[in-house]
Amino acid sequence: MDLTLDHITHRYGGMAVLDDIVLDIPAGEILCVIGPSGCGKSTLLRMIGGLEQPDAGRVLQRGPVPEDCLNPLTYVFQDFALLPWRTVAGNVSLVLEDHGLPRARSAQIIADVLARTRLTDFHDALPRQLSGGMKQRVAIARALAVNPAVLLLDEPLSALDSQTRELLMEDLVALWARQPFTGVYVTHNLAEAVRLGHRIAVLSRRPGRLRDVVEIDIPLPERRAGMPELEALQTRLWDLMKEEAMAADQELLHV
Ligand SMILES: Nc1ncnc2c1ncn2[C@@H]1O[C@H](COP(=O)(O)OP(=O)(O)OP(=O)(O)O)[C@@H](O)[C@H]1O
Ligand SMILES: [Mg+2]
Repeated sequence: MDLTLDHITHRYGGMAVLDDIVLDIPAGEILCVIGPSGCGKSTLLRMIGGLEQPDAGRVLQRGPVPEDCLNPLTYVFQDFALLPWRTVAGNVSLVLEDHGLPRARSAQIIADVLARTRLTDFHDALPRQLSGGMKQRVAIARALAVNPAVLLLDEPLSALDSQTRELLMEDLVALWARQPFTGVYVTHNLAEAVRLGHRIAVLSRRPGRLRDVVEIDIPLPERRAGMPELEALQTRLWDLMKEEAMAADQELLHV
């Protein structure tokens, strides 16, 4: 499914948060969104997911959703959002319960997404028995269980240590390579952005405006940590971000 962000503008009370964001996200592409703290990244993601309506502009969805899609857009959040009293399989089944599927079909979907996220052996484990990386894989399995057209990820790896982050980036690339989904991936981490984004949208300080869109033409499965091309891109992104962050600090000084 293609997404179009058509002149998205939003305010919270007197505070302008997003200013005239225009972007196309073609089906099967991952767009990473970076920008200084508080510039409106999570707000933009909530608008794409339809959890909130912009004051002006709209989000358009076009094109077919996958076969057996139960929910066209799903989220993965930084804090995993698992129910502690439910097993791994029970947490995944949460998103299937409203769809009236036959038991055998639900069990099959759960087995499939747990296999894809390397959690088959943890079907009956409780969240407290899992590491942070495994918990986030459960959240990813839960998001995939509805066979979404679009995955919306809000800093999904920022609560994890660097090794776990690296492994999960490889998992996300493998999942995408197996079945390319449309993704919007919000992050503060420039290394994640250059590993996972077909394009990277750089937002300005608040109110978030589209400062730049950087395209990366290296196929996702060929990217590795430390590749010189990716490091150079990271430096370029950091220069853009630094300008915005420093300008935001100057504004605070003059408040
Ligand atoms: N529901 C709300 N009501 C009022 N203000 C809000 C609401 N949600 C967010 N804000 C404010 O809007 C601004 C943008 O918030 P948002 O969470 O979208 O930023 P962000 O770019 O995701 O920040 P971070 O990088 O810290 O996650 C912030 O100043 C925030 O305090
Ligand atoms: Mg945020």
